[in-house]
Order: sequence, then structure tokens, then C-alpha cells
Amino acid sequence: MLILVTGGTGYIGSHTCVELLNNGCDVIILDNLVNSEREVVDRIAKITGKRPLFYQVDATEAAAVDAVFSAHPIDGVIHFAGLKAVGESVEKPLAYYKNNLLSTMVILEHCVKYGVPRFVFSSSATVYGENEVPFVETMELKPRSNPYGETKAMCEKILSDTASRNPEMSVALLRYFNPVGAHESGLIGEKPRGVPNNLMPYVTQVAKGLLPELRVFGSDYPTPDGTGVRDYIHVMDLAEGHLAALEKMGRGVHIYNLGTGRGTSVLELITTFEQVNKVKIPYRIVDRRPGDVAECWADVSKARRELGWTAKRGIAEMCRDAWRFEQLHG
Ligand code: NAD
Ligand code: UFG
Repeated sequence: MLILVTGGTGYIGSHTCVELLNNGCDVIILDNLVNSEREVVDRIAKITGKRPLFYQVDATEAAAVDAVFSAHPIDGVIHFAGLKAVGESVEKPLAYYKNNLLSTMVILEHCVKYGVPRFVFSSSATVYGENEVPFVETMELKPRSNPYGETKAMCEKILSDTASRNPEMSVALLRYFNPVGAHESGLIGEKPRGVPNNLMPYVTQVAKGLLPELRVFGSDYPTPDGTGVRDYIHVMDLAEGHLAALEKMGRGVHIYNLGTGRGTSVLELITTFEQVNKVKIPYRIVDRRPGDVAECWADVSKARRELGWTAKRGIAEMCRDAWRFEQLHG
């Protein structure tokens, strides 16, 4: 299969490219490099021994996207390209709606035009909003507290409506929980620009001494130790989930949670990181971060049943691999 990976030099996209190339797929990356570096293509080639084609193209620009689709017989698209910083989306809602909605529409339009049968979309557990855990794909979605989450819910709707008018298409809406960790080579991983918003990259930067201490947002949640609970998933498990979706999904629209089904608190994650990597993480409890939910974890039975996919790596491997990447290339 020849797979077009938008956002393929980004964090999750780069790991998925590795997984695709290692499993016999050919890969074209389309990325405008707004949040990643061209060098990632070399790293992917170093890991896999195969070089993906790379186009520095903005997915919202129809003419440039058309040139890529018209030049290659694409069998499937994985659409990672998007802006993802929740806080920034509150500051710049229009930039988020424009980039995330338009890129999805332009890529989808070209899939229809060129008869590309498979489309895999990066959605997020954020679409569940304030629901009861564990989150199940059949739940009614609750309103989100930020424009980023809204773009994901809107893209899911656009994709579902389009697929229902194009019965030859297979669409997977993959709702990621909290992707962390890195490829075990330490060559690719998560490299946020500026001060990280997310827990794991913040922890690795504290461990390296780049930041003085971690602020733990809230210790009065109704959780076993009072800190927020999330379903962290190793990015390579997530990458494997994309391959499973591409290979196994039938026609029509299919929604899958990609998580481990297990919740971990902030304090548990810190303790595991310290034990596995033999480093100290100084931290301080501060107020809750606005917009955070107490708990978020997945019911993962549908992906196991229908895709034969299940996450294999635990929190210790996530902490070990995230730290290795930070030390080598962070
Ligand atoms: P990332 O920022 O590392 O990767 C996204 C990539 O898309 C970047 O390389 C960026 O340069 C590119 N991009 C953005 N807008 C583009 C455009 N208009 N045209 C072309 N390229 C563009 O983010 P990530 O963590 O790898 O996330 C990938 C996808 O998964 C995103 O859609 C994100 O919303 C979604 N997601 C991420 C998480 C997470 O915690 N990382 C959780 C749930 C969902
Ligand atoms: N946290 C801290 N200190 C920090 C950063 C985070 O205590 O410096 C806590 C948060 O309060 C939360 C947990 O660590 O309890 C995880 O926070 P992240 O920011 O790493 O992740 P979120 O669960 O808030 O959000 C992430 C992505 C979203 C995505 C969502 C899906 O950032 O894009 O997972 O569940 F939508």
C-alpha cells in the first residue's frame, strides 16, 4: 500500500511512518513543518532503512495538495496534520478552526476526487468532554471547553457525513488518549516548541534540569491520590493501532478508542519515572488547571475485538523511552 501521511514529520506521524515502512508500506509525507523539522525524515530513514517521499506542503492549500494526489496512486491517507495546543486554541480560535477544519476538508475532497478508499483520522479523547469513565465509542459526546476539541468533533462529523455519501470509502476515527514515549532508538520523539504543556515532556525537561520543577495541577480531584488520572499510551502502540485500522477496517465509518484501558495518576507517573530512570523529579502541588477533567481513560474492547489491536507497553516503558529521547535529541 502507498500511504499519504499528513503531519508525518510530527510526533505521532513520524512513529506511524516507521511502523508503516517496517511493515511493507510505501510512505509519502506531507507536512508544512509548522511544528516539526525536516530532519525527522532522515531519522525515519535511519530507523527503517527506507526513505519516505517528503512534500513541504500546507494541507489547507488545495492546488499544492492536488499536485501530490495527481502524481501518486495513493491507497490510503492518515491525516495527522493539525494544530494541537489546547490553551493556544482558546487564544487563537480562528487559527485552529481554519487550520484543522480546512486541512481535513481539502485532504478529504482529494480522496473523493482521486478515489482513495481509506482515510484514517487523528481524533482525540477530548471529544468525550465531561462523560463517565471509561469512555466508550457509543457515548453521546459532551461539549468541550476549548476550540481544539471542537475542531476534532467537527472533523469527525464532516468525515462521517462524507463517508455516508461515498459508500466505497472506509473511514476510521481514532480517538487517542494520552500519547507519550518515543521510538526505542531515541531518534524520534516528542519535541515541543517552548515550554511544554503536556505532562511527560515537562517531566523529561525537569529531569534534564531544563526546568526547575514540575507543577502538579491539583491534588483534590476525586481520584485515589487526588491528582488527575489519564490513560497514557506508548506512541509505538498508537502507531501499531494505525496500521491495524488501515488493514482491518471495513467500509463505512468506524470509531475506535486507542488507549490502554488503564488510568495512571500524575503522582504515579512521577514515581514510576523516578524509579525506572533513577532521576529525581522535584514537584510542587498547585491549583487545578482550568478545563482539566479528573479522570480520562478508555474502554478499549472495540479496537481489540474488531482490529485485533491492543496496547502492549506499560508506563515503565513509556517513561524509559521518553527519557532516552530527551537525553539524546530533546
Ligand atoms: P505534532 O504537532 O507533533 O504533529 C502535527 C504535524 O502536522 C506537525 O508536523 C505540523 O508541522 C503539521 N501540520 C500542522 N498543520 C499543518 C498543515 N496545515 N499542513 C501540513 N502540515 C501541518 O502533533 P502530534 O502530537 O503528532 O499530533 C498529531 C495529530 O494527533 C494531531 O491532529 C493532534 O491533534 C492529534 N492528537 C494528538 C494528541 C497528543 O496528545 N499528542 C492527542 C490526541 C490527538
Ligand atoms: N499535568 C500537571 N502538570 C503539568 C502538565 C500536566 O499536573 O505541567 C497534569 C494534568 O493536570 C493532567 C495530566 O497531567 O491531569 C495530563 O495532562 P496533559 O496536559 O499531559 O494531557 P491532557 O489529558 O490534559 O490532554 C491531552 C492532550 C489533548 C488531548 C487529551 C486527550 O494534550 O490534546 O490528552 O485525552 F485531547
